[in-house]
Amino acid sequence: MKICVMPGDGIGREIVTQALRVLDKVGARYGREFQTIEALIGGCAIDETGVPLPPDTVAKCKDSDAVLLGAVGGPKWDTIDPSIRPEKGLLGIRKELNLFANLRPATLFKQLADACYLRPDIVARGLDVMVVRELTGGIYFGEPRFDGMKDGERFGFNTMTYYEHEIRRIARVAFEAARKRSGRVCSVDKANVLDVSRVWREIVIDEHANYPDIELSHLYVDNAAMQLVRDPSQFDVMVTGNLFGDILSDEAAAITGSIGMLPSASLGDANPGLFEPIHGSAPDIAGQDKANPLATILSVSMMLRHAFDMSEEADCIEQAVEKTLEQGYRTGDIMQAGAKAVGCVAMSEAVLANI
Ligand code: IPM
Ligand code: MG
Repeated sequence: MKICVMPGDGIGREIVTQALRVLDKVGARYGREFQTIEALIGGCAIDETGVPLPPDTVAKCKDSDAVLLGAVGGPKWDTIDPSIRPEKGLLGIRKELNLFANLRPATLFKQLADACYLRPDIVARGLDVMVVRELTGGIYFGEPRFDGMKDGERFGFNTMTYYEHEIRRIARVAFEAARKRSGRVCSVDKANVLDVSRVWREIVIDEHANYPDIELSHLYVDNAAMQLVRDPSQFDVMVTGNLFGDILSDEAAAITGSIGMLPSASLGDANPGLFEPIHGSAPDIAGQDKANPLATILSVSMMLRHAFDMSEEADCIEQAVEKTLEQGYRTGDIMQAGAKAVGCVAMSEAVLANI
């Protein structure tokens, strides 16, 4: 198995280094061999090559069976020409690999129930949501777009677009995912205002005809954002467009207690999938051994499950993470009174010991 590894910026390097140690150990235990090759993306790629997604990176990714990414971006590149911002590297590789489906599971580890921001009686009802976010369309990529001047003042716009085929294929991913869970899909849109959302809803309903065993509901995005904090237990799979999914997945992550815990998988039809933590590059704590490596370690687990069909190996990592939490190890973002405060390396070593 060939994995293209892109540490990226900020805490990216430290969390990816630790996640690869976990991968190695699991490989050794199950007799699997993983070959890794490194590539540049984001700010570090700009520094070395002038662009956030060098052609060499795209080639390396396409030549691999899976891609593992840390994070991109940081204040150093905030004032750079927007067309070559670090984020463009991430958007670019998603598009190049046609990774239209982004799976972001937000689950609450029971050991972290106290770190959860919600009231205990709300948490007690359960929190296990899978956000299925469309990743290569919508307002992120829609044309035309503009940033400039009009009528003597600053003016800008983007365009939210969706073709039927883009909606159908993401709806299918959501229905299939729901089949392996509790069989419920909530489609999130803004069909009371946006034309593009009315198309979205119509096609989701149409595609649902092929999944009579799945229960489909619809919510406007503002209501969905509210319901997610009011009673997340009502949700199983949430399917939505690129922008709404970006926002709702951060919300879903945060209510579990820490965005530092959540992994993600970006998948297409044929190309290698990309696996990354949903948090960012956290430049404020980079290089200080403070980052929580668990989201990246769990992204490796998603990679084993989705890219390599190695569910036993994936389970092994998830159980090791749970056990580590059980033993009381906590990085700063999930710290609780009486717990064992550890940094990025020590947290990873505790996980390694549990494999
Ligand atoms: C995410 C991030 C990215 C996005 C940024 C870094 C471009 O917020 O993966 O959620 O908006 O998709
Ligand atoms: Mg985001």
